Parts: sequence; C-alpha cells; structure tokens
Amino acid sequence: MEFTKKILITGGAGFIGSHVVRLFVTQYPNYHIFNLDKLTYAGNLENLSDIDQSPNYTFVKGDIADTAFINELFTTHQFDGVIHLAAESHVDRSISNPMEFVITNVIGTVNLLNAARATWGCSKDSKVEGKRFYHVSTDEVYGALGEEGMFTETTAYDPHSPYSASKASSDHFVRAYHDTYNLPAVISNCSNNYGPNHFPEKLIPLCINNIKNNKPLPIYGKGENVRDWLYVVDHARAIDVIYHQANDGSTYNIGGHNEWTNIDVIRLLCKIMDGKLGRTPGTNEQLITFVKDRAGHDLRYAIDSTKLQNDLGWKPSLQFEEGLEKTVDWYLANNQWLESVTSGNYQQYYNQQYNR
Ligand code: NAD
Ligand code: TYD
Repeated sequence: MEFTKKILITGGAGFIGSHVVRLFVTQYPNYHIFNLDKLTYAGNLENLSDIDQSPNYTFVKGDIADTAFINELFTTHQFDGVIHLAAESHVDRSISNPMEFVITNVIGTVNLLNAARATWGCSKDSKVEGKRFYHVSTDEVYGALGEEGMFTETTAYDPHSPYSASKASSDHFVRAYHDTYNLPAVISNCSNNYGPNHFPEKLIPLCINNIKNNKPLPIYGKGENVRDWLYVVDHARAIDVIYHQANDGSTYNIGGHNEWTNIDVIRLLCKIMDGKLGRTPGTNEQLITFVKDRAGHDLRYAIDSTKLQNDLGWKPSLQFEEGLEKTVDWYLANNQWLESVTSGNYQQYYNQQYNR
C-alpha cells in the first residue's frame, strides 16, 4: 500500500504515547506510523497489542539520545512528521536522578530537532511545506499557582522540579529551532493525565493498585495540592486536532477544567472502589496515610484551554467521575498488565515476543 505520510511517534509504548499511536493508526490508515521507543521501565508494548499487527504500524526500538542512530533513522525513512512524547516523566525520579532527565528530555529532543531540520532542509531563508514537528509538553513548565488564576499560553516559564526544568528546556529548544531555522514546529502543554496504561508509580494508578491489594495510600503532605485532571484519550484527541490544524510556531494549552485536591481524588477513588470490590462503604478510606511531602511540591496547577477550544473546537469528552470509573474498571480487568509492569516480568515477555 502507498502511504500518504510517514509519521514518527516517539515514546509510543508509554502511557500517553500508546493512546496517540492507537488513535493515529486506526484513524489514519493511509499514514505509516513509526513508534520509536527505548522501552524503559515505563514503556510496554503490551499497551499496543490490539493494533500492533496493523499494516500501517512499525515499531522501532531505540534511544532518542543516541545521535548516530537518530540521524540514520531519519535518513532512512524521510519522515513527514514527528510527534514527540518520549521522555522521563516522573517528578519523584527526577528528584533522585536528574541527569537521566537531561539526557532524554533535553539532549534527546535536540537530537530529534537536528535530524528533522537536516532531513527537511530547514533554513531561515525559506519555509518548508507539508512537514510538522509536534512537541508534547506539560503544564508543569509554568510552575505553581496560588489559590487563584490559571496558566495561559503566555504565562512565564517557572519550573521547579528537575523534570519540569528539563521539559521547559526542551520547549525552549523547539521554539528556538522554529525561530532560527524555520522548523515547522508546534508545542502543547497539557495538565495531568489519567486513564488506562498509566504506570503505577503515579498517584491514581498507584492508589488503584494499593486499594486492590489493601496497602496504604501514601498522600504527600496534607493532600491539599491541586491538579487539573484530563482523561488520556481526550489528550490524544487534542494532539490529533493540533497536529493537523495548528499554525507553525503556535502553542496550545490542553486541560480538563477539572481541578481536584489530591485528597479529594483519593477519597473519590476509595468510594468508587468500595463499590467495585464489594467492600463496606468507608473501608478503603482507612488506607489513606499522610507521608512526608515531596521536595519543591507545586501547590496548584490549572490550565486555561480557551485558545484550543475557540481556535480548533476541541473540548474534553468525559466528566472526571465517569473517567475515573472507566479507569478503575480497566485496571481491575487487566490484572496481568499490572502484575507484569510491577514485577519486572515485562522484559521477559518482550524477549519472547521479539525473539531477542
Ligand atoms: P511515560 O513515562 O508513561 O512514557 C514515556 C515513554 O518514553 C516510555 O515508553 C519510555 O520507554 C519512552 N522513553 C523514555 N526515554 C526514552 C528514550 N531515551 N528514547 C526513546 N524512548 C524513551 O510518559 P507519559 O506520561 O506517557 O508522558 C508522555 C509525554 O507527555 C512526556 O513528554 C510528558 O512530559 C508529557 N506529558 C505527560 C503528562 C502526564 O500527565 N503523564 C502530562 C502532560 C505532558
Ligand atoms: P504525580 O502522579 O506524580 O503527577 P505530577 O507530580 O506530575 O503532578 O502526582 C500527582 C499529585 O499527587 C502530586 O501533587 C503529588 C501527589 N502524590 C502523592 O500525594 N502521593 C504519591 O504517592 C504520588 C506518586 C503523588
């Protein structure tokens, strides 16, 4: 089959990346989708087992921080587009090991920018048509809000964690490549995602797993920090719309207009799971345990996504209660996934599957 476009999606075996890959592979059979992933602890090909036999899907194992490998990959395939999600993504890990975040999130991103620029022949004197470099970023680059206000696309960057500092740095490089070399780039900054395939070190899947196993639910500080939660499939839908419709050089904020304190999220989760697991109402809440706060813990994130809604007509499709219930149902029905990602069996599965 002749494909009309070749699109490279990085980090497609991870949480959000797998939903983006699925959406593009199923929605656009005339695009050839390449999923490039290093398969770190957070990457899992089981996330894509329903679509990995599709004729328009190819998996490539590799590291975005490996310059020679990235240059060769771009030379061989001559991609028309890049949707870049590969990253180290967990704030707590960035506090204990910041350098990995610099290597993947900053150097890896610049490697991709250089390869795209060379392949597309970008220069400040001419404009490249029909190509796109889409950088997927986070609202955490904006820092923390007090009780009032929201992040807009013009809020000044003020990252506090090594994770958000590395993402902020990569955003700056993407803008610099657009401004300096005319690289046809767009950026989006999204709020906290939740949903199926979320690695169980992050708040919601960690607590689902612990409730199931009757283990303590560790809440940092007093649980008063506020996050703006968006269902992962809604993020993937926004990426689709922005990829296809945004102007070069533009930025879009993506968020759910859905602010919750951590303690309220966990209370709601406990209530949903009391019902699903047939436990007496109030049982799961007894597992809540307040623990030492995260260093530099941002108080509040809230995204104003008016620009995306007005310009491109996107809006979230799910209410939080409904999305959380769907998420719980997925984790309860996919025990094997949860066990393989938490037990280290995943590498064995991968080796068998790919005869390595
Ligand atoms: P994730 O940790 O679940 O997945 C990251 C993926 O990248 C994994 O599959 C991993 O194997 C791969 N990867 C890591 N290092 C790599 C490397 N050097 N080379 C190639 N692949 C590598 O992350 P996620 O939560 O799905 O986040 C995806 C992107 O979205 C990230 O850029 C993140 O900053 C951004 N983001 C995440 C959220 C969120 O709530 N999770 C919100 C906004 C933005
Ligand atoms: P997390 O899922 O790590 O996402 P992020 O730090 O990118 O927002 O954390 C979400 C919120 O939950 C954040 O305020 C930190 C808090 N948290 C806990 O209270 N306990 C935990 O065990 C974890 C992982 C997070």
